[in-house]
Amino acid sequence: GSEEYGGCSECLFVLYVIEQNNFLPIFPYREDLLAAIHEHQILVIEGETGSGKTTQIPQYLLEDGYTKGGMKIGCTQPRRVAAMSVAARVAQEMSVKLGNEVGYSIRFEDCTSERTVLKYMTDGMLLREFLTEPDLASYSVIIIDEAHERTLHTDILFGLIKDIARFRSDLKVLVASATLDTERFSCFFDDAPVFRIPGRRFPVDIFYTKAPEADYLEACVVSVLQIHVTQPPGDILVFLTGQEEIEACCELLQERCRRLGSKIAELLVLPIYANLPSDMQAKIFNPTPPGARKVVVATNIAETSLTIDGIIYVIDPGFCKQKSYNARTGMESLIVTPCSRASANQRAGRAGRVAAGKCFRLYTAWAFKHEMEETTVPEIQRTNLGNVVLLLKSLGINDLIHFDFMDPPPHETLVLALEQLYALGALNHLGELTKLGRRMAELPVDPMLSKMILASEQYKCSEEVLTIAAMLSVNNSIFYRPKDKVVHADNARMNFVVPGGDHLVGLDIYHASCLSLCGFSTQWCYENFIQFRSMRRARDVRDQLEGLMDRIEVEVVSSQGDNVSIRKVTGYFYHTSRLSKGGYKTVKHQQTVYVHPNSSLFEEQPRWLIYHELVFTTKEFMRQVIEIESSWLLEVAPHYYKSKELEDSSSKKMPRKQGKTKEELG
Ligand code: CDP
Ligand code: MG
Repeated sequence: GSEEYGGCSECLFVLYVIEQNNFLPIFPYREDLLAAIHEHQILVIEGETGSGKTTQIPQYLLEDGYTKGGMKIGCTQPRRVAAMSVAARVAQEMSVKLGNEVGYSIRFEDCTSERTVLKYMTDGMLLREFLTEPDLASYSVIIIDEAHERTLHTDILFGLIKDIARFRSDLKVLVASATLDTERFSCFFDDAPVFRIPGRRFPVDIFYTKAPEADYLEACVVSVLQIHVTQPPGDILVFLTGQEEIEACCELLQERCRRLGSKIAELLVLPIYANLPSDMQAKIFNPTPPGARKVVVATNIAETSLTIDGIIYVIDPGFCKQKSYNARTGMESLIVTPCSRASANQRAGRAGRVAAGKCFRLYTAWAFKHEMEETTVPEIQRTNLGNVVLLLKSLGINDLIHFDFMDPPPHETLVLALEQLYALGALNHLGELTKLGRRMAELPVDPMLSKMILASEQYKCSEEVLTIAAMLSVNNSIFYRPKDKVVHADNARMNFVVPGGDHLVGLDIYHASCLSLCGFSTQWCYENFIQFRSMRRARDVRDQLEGLMDRIEVEVVSSQGDNVSIRKVTGYFYHTSRLSKGGYKTVKHQQTVYVHPNSSLFEEQPRWLIYHELVFTTKEFMRQVIEIESSWLLEVAPHYYKSKELEDSSSKKMPRKQGKTKEELG
């Protein structure tokens, strides 16, 4: 109950906040840690989230002389948001301008300079640095941070860095992790010692629901308001699975608070997820004004990679969005699944950083015990490896079967990645990198997209294809469809119906928004129900890609309105499907798939399609589709298609049999 807080809980809370600001658990261990780093080449560092690993260790190293002679200290983060916000925080602590001594580098955004010696970056960016500097010679220390997240890129870094550490005896390697799995890291790095930073956790009371919740979003909203009106001061952290849910939850909360008006104290509702623009992200760190309460609605980004001060209450519905991959069909699914017990415990721990806290689990104690997995499966075992295989091949690592993986990926996934790269022409029949493959690896995008960009050279439409590639990389977040204006939004969307398919629609939107008076004006986007942020990001991505065209020697030329060339190149030929009874069948795997209801071709059902991706949500959907003629496939990919595969079984269009309406499928 709330009694335990008694009368003076408020002042207790204030006291802890003050203590927290000038005391981090890592402070007393500065000297011991530096000594351990001095003594060992590879060190695993374990410490509770918020103990100061990410922000302090690089500063300690800097003070200890590790950046002498312009050497850099690199610190990887699995998430873009964390890389940016942590760099900003450290720059502030050191009173330097972000981008000078302290900087960050994330895909499509480089905020570093000649002077940068503390460099925070995503794990994917460090991976790409191996291409230009295979021994990472400019670094004196590499910190692989948030190692417990076991992202695909982090896992690959483990193998590569372990390898270079053998001949770069001057390189220090620190593997930093929350209190999870550290023995495994130590074991992988030839029994590297583990340095433990003792945590300073306050007790967290955990509450379960008596029965499963039917609607966890609603349950979250109700719980937040209940805490707000019945519990002593302290901020609330809610874990949801993605942007849409988070936005819906925030809207509901704001609406209910408006209705309650002055009957309740002020409740600041703040979302946080990866695609949120950074100025909005920064808001979650602002101190809560006296008398008000803050509720942060987050993805599992707030589980370990971000620390928000003042959280006393955690609401955990027990779900996360997880990618899984079917290597037989190449289908990716992003499915909301129960999170692991390890995650649930991390989440609960967020409530006990500044004072005793409470965690409200919106599931039963039985579900926690019996329905949740112990730990999360590493990403490498549930994702498409095309990108990473291409990168490893370009680093000269040919034998992937014997690569030093901490947990090897499934054999079929590796094989499919090799097959895909062969089909795209990046590998020859011996599995060796081709010249084309080498050029493809220069582009920081999916192999399908890089192939498309390179192929646009021959079809003289690189200008358009660059735009399409940029739009595809922000895909699925272009249109804004608020619940209260669905009809308006759908009408606005009709303005951008271009025959041929979604890629061309994207191109049209990009052009239209450029032509609109001030180029990407918020006003124009607002009126057309287009997400301004996505457009701005697409433009950034496009600029970056265009900047790389020199390096891969592709001239930027326009197709002058020749849509056929564009269609031959875009949505590259690798993913094809043909209309068949009740839906579509993929050409290579004969799998039944459907056009996504958000596609511009949802109604049309053309005979042959190319899809950008296959995702399973409620059904097996093709997303971002484009209409093609089967004869083109023989022209652009004669090594991959036989004319027999492409024979049309009937000449007339099949009746539409998708059954459900757009609304039902959402
Ligand atoms: O890496 P670890 O989880 O051990 O801790 P950290 O990220 O270095 O955070 C140490 C402290 O810095 C946290 O308690 C936060 O209060 C603060 N911090 C912040 O205020 N803003 C950030 N963007 C990052 C950290
Ligand atoms: Mg950290």
